[in-house]
Amino acid sequence: MNRKDTYLWWQKEIIYQIYPRSFYDSSGNGTGDLNGILQKLDYLEELGVKGIWISPFFPSPMADFGYDVSDYTGIHPLIGNMDDFDRLLEGIHKRGMKMILDFVPNHSSDEHPWFQESKSSRDNPKRDWYVWKDPKPDGSEPNNWLSEFGGSAWTLDENTGQYYLHTYLDKQPDLNWRNPEVHEAMLNCMRFWLDKGVDGFRVDVMWQMIKDKQFRDNPPNPDYTEDMSPYDKLLPVYSSDQPEVHDVVREMRKLTDQYPETVLIGEIYLPIQDLVTYYGHDLQGAQLPFNFQLVELPWEARRIEAAINEYEASLPSEGWPNWVLGNHDKSRIASRVGPQQARIAAMLLLTLKGTPTMYYGDEIGMTDVHIPVEMANDPRETKVPGKGLGRDPERTPMQWDSSENAGFTNGKPWLPLMENYKKFNVASESKDQDSMLNFYRRLIKLRASEKALSVGDFYPVPAEGNVLAYRREGPKKAFLIILNLGDQKEQVDPELPQWKGTVRFSTHSEKEGKEIKGSLILQPDEGLLIELKQ
Ligand code: NOJ
Repeated sequence: MNRKDTYLWWQKEIIYQIYPRSFYDSSGNGTGDLNGILQKLDYLEELGVKGIWISPFFPSPMADFGYDVSDYTGIHPLIGNMDDFDRLLEGIHKRGMKMILDFVPNHSSDEHPWFQESKSSRDNPKRDWYVWKDPKPDGSEPNNWLSEFGGSAWTLDENTGQYYLHTYLDKQPDLNWRNPEVHEAMLNCMRFWLDKGVDGFRVDVMWQMIKDKQFRDNPPNPDYTEDMSPYDKLLPVYSSDQPEVHDVVREMRKLTDQYPETVLIGEIYLPIQDLVTYYGHDLQGAQLPFNFQLVELPWEARRIEAAINEYEASLPSEGWPNWVLGNHDKSRIASRVGPQQARIAAMLLLTLKGTPTMYYGDEIGMTDVHIPVEMANDPRETKVPGKGLGRDPERTPMQWDSSENAGFTNGKPWLPLMENYKKFNVASESKDQDSMLNFYRRLIKLRASEKALSVGDFYPVPAEGNVLAYRREGPKKAFLIILNLGDQKEQVDPELPQWKGTVRFSTHSEKEGKEIKGSLILQPDEGLLIELKQ
């Protein structure tokens, strides 16, 4: 049993991701802004989330909707100004909440002054701040690396006769993290925000920051099929997850550690065995390398159970686990698994061991919104059309009430809203005891009041078919969680001899408070959280 009783906020609390363009528009220009977030802090406080991660709001040509930064220490005028930022940070802190910024170190915008200088001539002092290579003798790209947004990862700069690398758009040139000046400049940007008082960073594409020194060709992916993104034709063996990346992460961590109780989160899409290396040697890496198992895996109990067990077994000792259910790059959970299973997913996210990260709007059951091709904004749709890769559907405006535009804006929203927003919105759902919002609110409250659920130990409980079961145990209490990931009844016989307990929370609220023991029948889409009698 874990005897430690002091946990840091980023271990015991919930992280909530805000996509600022879509949260709340206070100015009426159709795009969400920092003041809008400030005005909705009471909502977040009441929901019970603590770490507010805000996707990029820095100056940007918006080629990749903020993930193309042209000034790392400014604010995009569409989203606010530095006074707004200061007020928001103060408001967050006043409520005992924390602010996590989105730091994008792999690439800047091509409109960043650094890149403008770098591309101005081969002997510019900043030339080596980005990744420049000569063409092959026949004039073609230096190697076969592909861009995540389609086509080659190299673009020729006619003026200087060299190619520059861009893992994403040609408007997002990769910075050269083998250059110490880049380290210094970028860490200074992090320091700027830390000095202002932010509580941590989510680091964009952490595993891609450093590339093979020899720029070797990536090998073909033997599992590639036509329905996949063209990027998946190759395995990114030489363009990502290089051993030297851990030195960069350690440096970032050294910096954040100078500011008490900050957190470094890594966006990393890798298999579990590789993912956990980002905790770093002696845990000097990222405190939370994002664990995307619940986003990536098919919604099958046995697959998820195996992943949970592998993850638990692979974590370094004292490495803190975390779980993510959705984000601005992936189809929303309610669309992936349906509205009933979205409740099971919420129970899973909030009762597994580890820091949960929620995505704005999932708590009101928002689904992906169909965006007609001609209205697509996202470069993943416009550059790689016809594959259904666009991310606009999961980025639509938050639904606050049933008034026009769901109370998101007085102007024209930058993306269309869900058609049935009149039913699914904060105001209506607040009044309905059975709504998704109240489901989340009750569950979060319970989690906050029971140490066993937030920081207690995790023990798998063998189950079959569509059922997933596990125990959480704290110093005083123990809970059994049983989830039906299917839409059929299931007979469950948890392998816990002579167990009995009280249902503390359920998808079927009429069961709450009931005594329960031994084998049981689980209804379709039913989840039970049972406090065990010790
Ligand atoms: C990951 C971000 O989450 C995604 O939205 C972005 O397009 C790429 N990184 C490039 O920054």
